[in-house]
Amino acid sequence: MRAVEAREAGGPEVLALVDVPDPTPGPGDVLVRTSAAGVNFIDTYRRAGVYPMPFPHIVGSEGAGVVQAVGEHVSGIAPGDRVAWSDAPGSYAELVAVPAERALLVPAGVDPDVAAALPLQGMTAHYLTHSTYTVQPGDVVLLHAGAGGVGLLLTQLATARGGRVITTVSTDEKEELSRAAGAVEVIRYDRLDNLTEQLPPLVRKAAGGGVSVVYDGVGRATFDASLACLRRRGTLVLFGGSSGQVPPFDLQRLSAGGSLYVTRPTLGDYTATTQELRSRAGDLFAAVLAGTLNVRIGARFPLASVATAHRELESRATTGKVLLITE
Ligand SMILES: NC(=O)c1ccc[n+]([C@@H]2O[C@H](COP(=O)([O-])OP(=O)(O)OC[C@H]3O[C@@H](n4cnc5c(N)ncnc54)[C@H](OP(=O)(O)O)[C@@H]3O)[C@@H](O)[C@H]2O)c1
Repeated sequence: MRAVEAREAGGPEVLALVDVPDPTPGPGDVLVRTSAAGVNFIDTYRRAGVYPMPFPHIVGSEGAGVVQAVGEHVSGIAPGDRVAWSDAPGSYAELVAVPAERALLVPAGVDPDVAAALPLQGMTAHYLTHSTYTVQPGDVVLLHAGAGGVGLLLTQLATARGGRVITTVSTDEKEELSRAAGAVEVIRYDRLDNLTEQLPPLVRKAAGGGVSVVYDGVGRATFDASLACLRRRGTLVLFGGSSGQVPPFDLQRLSAGGSLYVTRPTLGDYTATTQELRSRAGDLFAAVLAGTLNVRIGARFPLASVATAHRELESRATTGKVLLITE
C-alpha cells in the first residue's frame, strides 16, 4: 500500500510517499481501506519532533473508510461497515489497522469526507465545551483562531449551549467564516502590534467585562493576553500551541489575576473509555444529521501533496478541516 512516512524529525520536506507492506489486523483490530485521512496539528508536532516519536513512522492518527477484514475477538463490526477514528497511528495510508474499540461506526447519511473530518477536532470541541469547562447559558467565551478546524466547531457547540462567543482571526475570509459559525464578535488580532497589551481591552469591551473562559489553542503568542481577558475566577483552557509552546509559568500569576484556573487538557484523557469516546462521537454525528453542526472542509489534498498540506496548515493558510484523500 501507499503511505506517508516521516523519515526524520524536521519540516514538511521530511514527509515521503512510500510503498510499504499492507498492515495485518491483530487481535481486536479492524483493517480499514481509508477514503480520507484527517490532517491535524498534532501530526506536525510529531513530524517536527516536538512530541517524541520513533523515526521513520507513518504519519497521521485520524481517518475514515470501509472495513475490509476483522481480527480475532472483534464483535459488532463487520467487513463492509463504514468507520471513522481519531487515534489510530499510521493513518496517512491506504490501509489502516484500527483497534475495534476505538472505531466509530459512521451512521448512514454522513458524508465520507465529513466522517474523516469530524472525529479529532469534533471530539476536541465537544470535550472542551461540555467537560473541561462546561459552557452555561450566558457565559462569554473567548476562542482564538475562530476559523480553524477546532475553532469553527467549538464556536458552534459553545453557541448551542447558550454561550456568547468572541473569536480572534487573522484574515477577512476567516472573519466571515467565524461570524457564520456563530461568533458574536470577531477581533482581527493580526492587526495588533502588541497582542498582550492591546487584546484584553478589546475583549473586555466586547464582553462587557472579563470572559468566563478562554479556549486557547494558539499558545505562545496569545497565552498572556488570554489570562488578562478573564473575569474573576475565570478559566483558561490551554489546548494547543499552533504559534509555539507556552514556556514555564509562575502559578502566583493566578492569584494576581483574580483566583484564575488554568488547565492543559488532551483529547486522550477525555475519550479514555470506549463509552466516553462513543458518547461524544454519537452526539456529533447526531448533530451533523440534524443539520445543527456544519463541518467545513477547507482543503483536500492527494496523499502525494502531503508536504503542501502541512505547510499550509502551519502557515495559517487553511480554514476548517484539511483532508488527505487516499482513494
Ligand atoms: N488538546 C487537544 O486535545 C487538542 C486536540 C486537537 C487540536 N488541538 C490543538 O488545537 C489547535 C488548533 O488545531 P486545528 O487542527 O484546529 O488547527 P487550526 O486552528 O485549523 O490551525 C491553526 C490556526 O492557529 C492560528 N495561528 C495563530 N498563530 C499561528 C502561528 N504562528 N502559526 C500557525 N498558526 C497560527 C491560525 O489561525 P489565524 O490565522 O486565524 O490566526 C491557524 O489557522 C492546535 O494547537 C492543536 O494542537 C488540541
